[in-house]
Amino acid sequence: MQNIKLIREDFPALSRNINGKPLIYFDNAATTLKPKSVVAAMDDYYLNGAANIHRGVHRLSIEATDKYENVRKICQKFINARSEQEIIFTSGTTLGLNSLALSLAVQKLSHGDEVIVSAMEHHANIVPWQLLRERKGIVLKVLPMNDKGELETQHLEALISPRTKVLSCVMTSNSLGTINPVKHITAVAHAHGLEVIIDAAQAVAHGSIDVQDIDCDYLVFSGHKVYGPTGVGVIYGKEEKLKALPPALGGGDMIFSVTWEKTIFADGPVRFEAGTPPIAEVIGLGAALEYFMALGSENVERYESTLLKRAQAAVKRIGGLRIIGEAKEKVGILSFVIDGVHPHDIGTLLDGAGIAVRTGHHCTQPVMAFFGIPATTRASFSFYNTPEEVDFFVEKLTEIQKFFST
Ligand code: ALA
Repeated sequence: MQNIKLIREDFPALSRNINGKPLIYFDNAATTLKPKSVVAAMDDYYLNGAANIHRGVHRLSIEATDKYENVRKICQKFINARSEQEIIFTSGTTLGLNSLALSLAVQKLSHGDEVIVSAMEHHANIVPWQLLRERKGIVLKVLPMNDKGELETQHLEALISPRTKVLSCVMTSNSLGTINPVKHITAVAHAHGLEVIIDAAQAVAHGSIDVQDIDCDYLVFSGHKVYGPTGVGVIYGKEEKLKALPPALGGGDMIFSVTWEKTIFADGPVRFEAGTPPIAEVIGLGAALEYFMALGSENVERYESTLLKRAQAAVKRIGGLRIIGEAKEKVGILSFVIDGVHPHDIGTLLDGAGIAVRTGHHCTQPVMAFFGIPATTRASFSFYNTPEEVDFFVEKLTEIQKFFST
């Protein structure tokens, strides 16, 4: 990565010492660190205004509204939506997927209708549909994967029946790192008239997203996975789809008029933004996306791929280590198990060396069940990580494996 020293200075957390060692932050798939510009944008809102949006005629409210609405344009550019009217702010991927599930349930799902998800979904794209299974009697079908952690898309067509209405699929697996062929999956689903939702929570930070190219009907992502604050995320929806979609939540700001007899909803994305939204977080998200776009998603993708390849090649030399997720197309996520060593022990010992990784099931228990393991250790890389950090991580991992094998 060009100017990595300068880039690292934008992230004060990277200068911390943890257990007497310089922090090596490899838990980027759980959440990314935040650049100073994101915190500054939020500080500016809180310290110099902090007014509510859309409701006031006074200067502070107008300023806050302008800043908030400007982020719709930034998001539009970030995912190449046709219009900022296709950008809805929400609290994150989880609420995004739950809201879409509820809205689509009202709009088009009846008892016996089917929804397809993939075998590598995060719980956020499983549980909302299971709730609908309990409450509405929908049927949940699963597109399988192979033992490399790649979706078996050749089986998709056979899964679709006249009762199948929705396909909701993860773009990049958070526990395996697999990049799924979502454009192809969308085309197959559309050929059968399905609504297509893409969970881009993990994809956003590792490359470019082009919703027009994918042609999905809806796509969701979280701000905190892409160097922005927690508590904010985006639902993208094609404008004509959003016009017909009933809102999942009701309240202030999303209405045109309310009487005891009837509510007429507002037009546009605010129809899906009931109540005071996370204004500071939306503004912080705008700063994060501008930071990321200035780096260039192709540069990020290329650089993280070199870190992944370096790490993968080196850890293969560690005895008893098995990589979980060896898809051909992967982002910089390395999940693994080591024979005879519990992932939590690995995580704790790495923390002792200043290295932050995630251990556990990564909110993908069906993926763990598929591989016959309870948990993995997961190192996930960012553009601010270095090859030297990867080498130190592998050195410590080698020591840990040796310690447990003797
Ligand atoms: N879903 C997040 C992860 O992968 C929290 O760690």
